[in-house]
Amino acid sequence: MIVCVCNAKNSQTVRETLTGAPHIGTPAAAHRAMGCKPQCGRCLPAIADLIEEVRNENAVVTALAAAD
Ligand code: FES
Repeated sequence: MIVCVCNAKNSQTVRETLTGAPHIGTPAAAHRAMGCKPQCGRCLPAIADLIEEVRNENAVVTALAAAD
């Protein structure tokens, strides 16, 4: 699914970018990591949601690894 129409970035690309760079905390930083920048800004809430989702997934993985 396309998340950022202006930069033709789909949710898989955004997720892969976020997974590979856990320090990314803002939609603008996510755009920079993908080699582009926000234009219209309509995707910013969706990218913020993806940042939160990936952060939560990483926390679960870390907690499971620590439990082993
Ligand atoms: S949809 Fe992402 S900047 Fe316009």
